Amino acid sequence: MSLKKKPGRLIAFEGIDGAGKSTQVRLFEEYLDNRGIESLFLREPTNGRWGKKIRSLLEEKDGKISPEDAFRLFTMDRRENVKKNILPALGSGRMVVLDRYYFSSIAYQGALGIDPGLIRSSNESFAPKPDLVFLLEITPRKGLRRIEEGRGKRTTLYEKSGYLAKVKRIFRSMKDPCIRRINASRPVDEVREKIIAEFEKIS
Ligand code: TYD
Repeated sequence: MSLKKKPGRLIAFEGIDGAGKSTQVRLFEEYLDNRGIESLFLREPTNGRWGKKIRSLLEEKDGKISPEDAFRLFTMDRRENVKKNILPALGSGRMVVLDRYYFSSIAYQGALGIDPGLIRSSNESFAPKPDLVFLLEITPRKGLRRIEEGRGKRTTLYEKSGYLAKVKRIFRSMKDPCIRRINASRPVDEVREKIIAEFEKIS
């Protein structure tokens, strides 16, 4: 029997803005905690130097970031996250849970005209493929309503209905076997149960 430690699992949550991703990530974190499963939770854009730059550009009122610059910045942010956080944790057998990953780049930067195939291949050249991706599906209209109710403030550059409809279309076209589509317009508890049931199938 090999003494080599089994590499940890990689799980990502994806979906358009307002799908309830962050709530579900938090509930999943609680579930893993209760089961005593050690895990590392990360979000993209990160809180590192590139991630902070991205957030401030997206929040600018006249939002001027070009699709090419966005693609470049999100990729640099992810490269750093993969090298510094994701690979070391997986290597030591920990589970890693991501709030957004490169599927967001394919969908969001793809919806702005960058070739989705190019975004995928450049990311897959350095970013490990997840074991599971929970794709939370909701209509842009419902998602935007949630954001406005929840935050009580205006939406950012990428949170516009026509744009999110394109993002959603690209998410829907993805055929990766690791993707589990979850109806995110259902009540929070029901969505949580679905996610846990899918997770338990692979663990
Ligand atoms: P997120 O942190 O999920 O939003 P919130 O501020 O609600 O927590 O992501 C910020 C925005 O960045 C979101 O609109 C999606 C976008 N995004 C991309 O366009 N490409 C990417 O690769 C990633 C990770 C996010």
